Amino acid sequence: MPDFQFATPEALDEALRLAVSERLQKAIDLRGSATLVLSGGSTPQALYRQLAETPLRWDCVTVLLADDRWVAADHEDSNEGMLRRLLLQGEAASAYFLSLCPGYPDVQANLEIVEAQVSELPPFDAVLLGMGLDRHTASLFPCSEQITEALATSASVVMTRPTTAPHQRISLSRTRLANCRWGALHIVGNDKVRVLKAIEPDAPAVTAPVSAFLPPRGSFEVWRSP
Ligand code: 6PG
Repeated sequence: MPDFQFATPEALDEALRLAVSERLQKAIDLRGSATLVLSGGSTPQALYRQLAETPLRWDCVTVLLADDRWVAADHEDSNEGMLRRLLLQGEAASAYFLSLCPGYPDVQANLEIVEAQVSELPPFDAVLLGMGLDRHTASLFPCSEQITEALATSASVVMTRPTTAPHQRISLSRTRLANCRWGALHIVGNDKVRVLKAIEPDAPAVTAPVSAFLPPRGSFEVWRSP
């Protein structure tokens, strides 16, 4: 498993900022556009502030979330709200943001809108995923009744309802997240590193959804710090 270790979260953020921006620029040079998928939570927030100030043809970049909480964008728990505050500012203000919740609060109408939009996108150029101590990633939670379907479906977007975290969620599916040119798992903290290292390669993905993206099932890299 490609495993990149850094001494501090700050060093990890700077390395990820460079890795992401280089991949986006390469995609723009090759194909004229790029697609970036980002996760919510607390780990990546400093990175998003730094990416926002990174000179790039952001007007050629489509940004979307790996998942969001099923709340209004102005709700304090909204990943969209966090991304608009931290990333879609400064240099990155010109990026095109594809919301996962444009039809909130109508779940079915929203699913139809977002499924049509996301399924039209090409392979993602860069995907950054986080992980919880329960081994969830995006909003693919082992505790949710929808996890088997979320890991197996050919649809791009699913609704999930975790029992160990607040809010119903909307998440890109395993299939859609894995349809990418480069993916990295952004891990900070020894607790998470221990959980990650303890995942058996043949662990059922329904009990450790993050394992669906790591070798041997997936090709995401691990980028981590204490
Ligand atoms: C979310 C994220 C989620 C996150 C992990 C880690 O909506 O919360 O998409 O998958 O990446 O829960 O969260 P922390 O970075 O806060 O530990």
